[in-house]
Amino acid sequence: VQGVRDYAIYMLDPTGHVTNWNAGAQAIKGYTADEIVGRHFSLFYTEEDRARDEPQHVLATARREGRFEGEAERVRKNGERFWAHVLIDPIYGDEGELVGFAKVTRDVTERRRATLELEQSRAALVQAQKMEAIGRLTGGVAHDFNNLLTVIRASADFLQRPNLSEAQRQRYVGAIAETAERAATLTSQLLAFARRQPLKPEPFDVAARLRALRQIMDTTVGSAVEVAIEAPVETMIVEADPSQFETAVLNMVINARDAMPTGGRITISAHPVQAVPAVRGHVAAQGDFIAVQIVDTGAGISADHLGQIFEPFFTTKAVDKGTGLGLSQVYGFAKQSRGEIDV
Ligand SMILES: Nc1ncnc2c1ncn2[C@@H]1O[C@H](COP(=O)(O)OP(=O)(O)OP(=O)(O)O)[C@@H](O)[C@H]1O
Ligand SMILES: [Mg+2]
Repeated sequence: VQGVRDYAIYMLDPTGHVTNWNAGAQAIKGYTADEIVGRHFSLFYTEEDRARDEPQHVLATARREGRFEGEAERVRKNGERFWAHVLIDPIYGDEGELVGFAKVTRDVTERRRATLELEQSRAALVQAQKMEAIGRLTGGVAHDFNNLLTVIRASADFLQRPNLSEAQRQRYVGAIAETAERAATLTSQLLAFARRQPLKPEPFDVAARLRALRQIMDTTVGSAVEVAIEAPVETMIVEADPSQFETAVLNMVINARDAMPTGGRITISAHPVQAVPAVRGHVAAQGDFIAVQIVDTGAGISADHLGQIFEPFFTTKAVDKGTGLGLSQVYGFAKQSRGEIDV
């Protein structure tokens, strides 16, 4: 015990006075045996702890529970504070009478500092990620909104001009209505990602919906991209929110278009399946489902990004090109409709 330097090992009498002292105790606490034997161990406590009668509580706990173990600040001879790991065992004599306490103290200041630093850097990382997401949100959504507001403002200005033809008037009113609609879609998508928008599930035919989307899809992707719809079965009824379904398909079609700047082909196919396969650690769900598959001839998604694409605000596009909300809408829709999505 005398040779141990990493641990302060010493004994107290039943009232808490130091009765012996090892080299480790001297190294950690700074007192020599001559200086400390006979003094009360509350000397090692901070003033605040002494004011709270902590030394007495600690001894009482050790007696009551057979041992005390804890970590707290302690004070060295030179007044310096350190972080101590403390063990106290009561020692009983042959007759069962308390003869004192054995104390083992370790200086764990370094370990605690490392732990705190790690916690701080973790917290900083979380905060940075949050800031990044908020930055993308304000950057992307605010930009989108500004563009939409610019259109509305300009149309309103035009409408104030005298002598507008009926055709012009209609065009500007139409632009305002359509732009306001797009702004509303943007907010409703945001709400859906925040999972506050209730879906309105109803039975609808997937094949018919895809065919009905043909026009808008062709317009969206432009003439360089060809859209093919393959729906071998005539009718495929599912129960889900049809407008969210359309939004999801369009979000994926737009992604495919963005991935093929020089043109290409998008194939959308739908067919009945008897289970949702096991993805991302979920077990497979048996039952009647419709699988919708979207394939494009674009660049594809790098393996590094695959794990993140469904996260809200994850985007590889320029601030004014993407907000990173498209696939999180698709993901939210699939999940809320008791389906799945995979790449
Ligand atoms: N068909 C695809 N081909 C290649 N990469 C894709 C495809 N679909 C998605 N991605 C990648 O996934 C990312 C996230 O897609 P998501 O639709 O969520 O956001 P976004 O398209 O960047 O922005 P937003 O849809 O909000 O305008 C994209 O930035 C892109 O890197
Ligand atoms: Mg997108």
